[in-house]
Amino acid sequence: MEDSKIKRTALMSAYLRSHHSLHAEPKIFDDFISPELLTEEDHIAFDQSMVMALAAIDPARAASYPKREDAIAYMVQHYFPTSLFLSRARYAEDKLKEAINQGVKQYIILGAGMDTFAQRNPGLIEQLQIFEIDHPATQRFKRNRLKDLGWAQPDNLNFVPIDFTKDQLEKALLDASYDPALPSFFSWLGVIHYLPKQDVFSTFRTLTNIAPSDSNIIFDYWDLDAFNPEKAAKRVNSMQAMLRQAGEPMLTGFDPQSVADELHKVGIVMQEHLSPMEIQSKYFEGRNDDYYAYEHAFFVHGRVK
Ligand SMILES: C[S@@+](CC[C@H](N)C(=O)[O-])C[C@H]1O[C@@H](n2cnc3c(N)ncnc32)[C@H](O)[C@@H]1O
Repeated sequence: MEDSKIKRTALMSAYLRSHHSLHAEPKIFDDFISPELLTEEDHIAFDQSMVMALAAIDPARAASYPKREDAIAYMVQHYFPTSLFLSRARYAEDKLKEAINQGVKQYIILGAGMDTFAQRNPGLIEQLQIFEIDHPATQRFKRNRLKDLGWAQPDNLNFVPIDFTKDQLEKALLDASYDPALPSFFSWLGVIHYLPKQDVFSTFRTLTNIAPSDSNIIFDYWDLDAFNPEKAAKRVNSMQAMLRQAGEPMLTGFDPQSVADELHKVGIVMQEHLSPMEIQSKYFEGRNDDYYAYEHAFFVHGRVK
């Protein structure tokens, strides 16, 4: 992907989380560091692009909002996948907290993007080694942005650049001082759909080879209806179209009926499986804004056999 697209995609996800942190109550997931990842110009440009996008896709609705900030909030809450970004991060970090209390020592964030866990949790510096695995181009962009902001790299944060479709995850982790004897927690959020299925499963096999029994794996996936324009929800069809246009089509989904069996074959035991309805009642019930669980997106908590 070109650098300009990487910049826009990475900063867009930070912008959506930052809008939630700055404006929403109650918060689903408070990424209070994310507003600082964006410059003043970035905030202004993304606000403006939300207003313009609404005018282009739904002029009648755009005209119904006298206040600009209401149009922006509608786009952030309803149109873009902010609710998915927030709820999956909340799910992963709630499970991570439980795992740390049970003795987990390593947190491996696969496809980290603009994740800010390490910066939000300086108190865990003695307890937890953090490994951010990401595509070299995305990771380079993020590291440059952190450098431009003048943020020091926390001592327990290890950057590991790899392409899941080309590079050896196991070797890269071992070279980065990952300890295969220590209980580990892997999150793999918002990535699986970009990869061919064979690469998803070879990555799962690597995790079960390299991590001790009972280590945790959290990931999200799309059901098969998300790939069928006749059956997919409107905003999921729009997202599919946007990703195709950006040259990053969604490739892989799972059948929720068979995902536990498929995981079992690669050495992962399903502990919990949340459907969009369950995610709705866990994180969105009773809100009076436009946030609601993203259709077709499921969350899984598995453990290494
Ligand atoms: C939508 S972002 C998700 C970021 C973050 N995990 C989250 O939940 O918001 C997708 C991430 O997957 C990474 N990614 C996509 N394809 C990849 C590949 N082939 N190898 C490594 N990382 C990849 C991208 O660089 C990006 O950081």
